[in-house]
Amino acid sequence: MSKHKLEIKYRCTQGTCCANCREGVLAFDEAVYDELKAAYDDPELFRSPKGYCKLGFSRPFKVREIVRLAPDGAEAEEQWLDENDPIGTLILEHKQILKIFDEIEAQIKRRDIKALWVSTYELANAIHLHSGLKEEEVLFPAMRDVLAFGESLTAIIKEEHREIMSLLSNFRSALEEETILDSIITSMIVSLKGHIRKENQEFFEMVDKCLDRNMRMEIADGMKKIEAEFKPTPITVMQRRVNEERGAFDDEIIALRELTHQGCCH
Ligand SMILES: [Fe+2]
Ligand SMILES: [Fe+2]
Repeated sequence: MSKHKLEIKYRCTQGTCCANCREGVLAFDEAVYDELKAAYDDPELFRSPKGYCKLGFSRPFKVREIVRLAPDGAEAEEQWLDENDPIGTLILEHKQILKIFDEIEAQIKRRDIKALWVSTYELANAIHLHSGLKEEEVLFPAMRDVLAFGESLTAIIKEEHREIMSLLSNFRSALEEETILDSIITSMIVSLKGHIRKENQEFFEMVDKCLDRNMRMEIADGMKKIEAEFKPTPITVMQRRVNEERGAFDDEIIALRELTHQGCCH
């Protein structure tokens, strides 16, 4: 829920009323304002907050001016942490990575090599930033001393990251030979989905219990910095290569064709 506070200058639309609440300034959370304005279709109206109308009615108030008040001190810090919660950020990124996978699966069905070259490049960058940098360089070092078996748990997760990146790299190399390696990408999808499930449902749950407010702030801050400094590897032009085995096969076909044409009268 948003913690922004609003200051709203209003005027009561009940023209015949002579109570001294006919106009004034109200201040409340944006979420409360959202509820009050949902009572009317007109975006300039909101229902008067309970007990505010001196005559005890619930009146349509018309907005004259809205000022968004900046949160201060501890409230601002809390809001920042709420919006940048490190575990929430990583879980959200898992969803984004899975979305790229949906695209990849559709491209595989269409056998669209060019599109796969781009989407797997995006996936490699996303995994590098998420797993290689945010998890391995920020989250895991912070976990070492506070999580039971932190060292061995993170070692297992790192190993899974290596395996996933290696499968992705092999898949991309094959694309340059105009080959789509279904078995490799299937293994990768299975590994990555299993990895994400493990992190979401087991590892992050344990981590979340160990983090106090200061650690959360430090990790969130570290992740923000690493993301700001992150420069994705530029995408390269696909270098089409001939697979040697396939090339030899093609040579045989050409030789056979030449042989069959030798007896031709033309
Ligand atoms: Fe992850
Ligand atoms: Fe991971």
